[in-house]
Amino acid sequence: MKYEIKPADGKLMVFIPGMGSITSTFLAGVFNMKKGLYKPVGSITQMGHIRLGKRTEKRSPMIKDFVPLASMYQLEFAGWDIFEDNMYEAAKKAAVVLPHHIEPIKNELETIKPMAAVFYHDWVKNIDGPNIKKGKNHMDLAEQLMDDMKRSMAEKGCDRAVMVWNASTEAYHKPCEIHETLDAFEKALTDNHPEVAPSQIYAYAALKMGIPYINGAPNYTVDVKAIQELAEKNKVPIAGKDWKTGQTLMKTILGPGLKTRMLGLSGWFSTNILGNRDGEVLDNPDNFKSKEVSKLSVLDTILEPDKYSDLYGNYYHKVRINYYPPRGDAKEAWDNIDIFGWLDMPMQIKINFLCRDSILAAPVVLDTVLFIDLAHRTGFWGIQEWLSFYFKSPMVAEGLYPEHDIFIQQKKMKNTLRHIMGEDLITHLGNEYYDYMKD
Ligand SMILES: NC(=O)c1ccc[n+]([C@@H]2O[C@H](COP(=O)([O-])OP(=O)(O)OC[C@H]3O[C@@H](n4cnc5c(N)ncnc54)[C@H](O)[C@@H]3O)[C@@H](O)[C@H]2O)c1
Repeated sequence: MKYEIKPADGKLMVFIPGMGSITSTFLAGVFNMKKGLYKPVGSITQMGHIRLGKRTEKRSPMIKDFVPLASMYQLEFAGWDIFEDNMYEAAKKAAVVLPHHIEPIKNELETIKPMAAVFYHDWVKNIDGPNIKKGKNHMDLAEQLMDDMKRSMAEKGCDRAVMVWNASTEAYHKPCEIHETLDAFEKALTDNHPEVAPSQIYAYAALKMGIPYINGAPNYTVDVKAIQELAEKNKVPIAGKDWKTGQTLMKTILGPGLKTRMLGLSGWFSTNILGNRDGEVLDNPDNFKSKEVSKLSVLDTILEPDKYSDLYGNYYHKVRINYYPPRGDAKEAWDNIDIFGWLDMPMQIKINFLCRDSILAAPVVLDTVLFIDLAHRTGFWGIQEWLSFYFKSPMVAEGLYPEHDIFIQQKKMKNTLRHIMGEDLITHLGNEYYDYMKD
């Protein structure tokens, strides 16, 4: 079966709450790439191929030629931040990209100025800024966001949009009764209930307007029933959460490798130093808690200690993030991994990853924006588990555990693309090539 996919005609607006390091890096990349100055390294939608049919057929088109994605040239951008810096100033302050990346596209970056944000200091304690909306209650603020979106789309001539959360990690709060149903949540918006997170006001506004929502932070924003009910009611896709970059990316590459070879694990200690605004926010224990929960869940799901108790039943897992201003965005991560093998002999793996998180996150933002727009045009709604590949803490349907193994996630994503285009799924069985397995 092939789906009726609406064409990717016209312009696609990308709405971004949070115009700091990732957003300025993402935009600097897109504007440079539109000028042909750099290749979109790290982007699967732009550089990846997909095999179709049997290996003997030698069909392996680029993903962007196989599925009808919007192109980078069709994208427009608007967003919100508590600071008033335009994207040129934000890129300079974030200091992820270098002057030779931003000077040639200064004009494009300067025209993107953050709209006033919905922000409550209690949810992000370590920062404060002047560019904040005022309103009589949360619902009023949601309506102001909807007005911002309508106006921006009209100005840029866009009839489709996607929202992607690149704002700070919010404090860890467990969902409560107001998150159980859409009715209860809408009442909480009107009653100014303190358990409504700012990110949920953005998500509500987007989904209400039929705009897909992607969650790049570990916030519980769209993991709650009330907001999922709205996504289902309005037939809008959602995806998240927490971009898979840096240390967790390495964990989801290495973890499945150790398990595949049935090597045991006695401990995995991960620590980081970083000095950007994200690091400053995460220096607060409430905000770090959201991140910690997201980072810690990864190994258990990959290693399945309940099934493999001899190998993984008793490992110690610790994750630390230390704010260290001199480093800026040039984070450094250390992993000490204690493993054991044949005759219980201990071995150690040390990883010292001098990564740049926003450089790893930017292509992921581009891919998820283009893929969730494809999902929407395909008629998909609710949780898009096939986009797990991009997230530290993938969203899944109730009752399922998330799949963290990056290679399984990649197969799931490619098979989803084959499925929507009416191509055979690839199981990797390969029985058709060997006589003893035919029929
Ligand atoms: N950098 C990475 O690779 C990476 C990886 C995984 C997840 N994340 C998450 O992505 C998010 C963005 O990361 P970053 O490195 O760009 O952080 P950043 O601190 O540079 O940028 C976040 C921006 O959000 C703004 N902000 C905070 N609350 C807001 C609100 N309610 N509305 C609008 N703007 C608001 C801040 O003023 C700031 O400019 C963070 O939540 C981070 O934890 C980042």
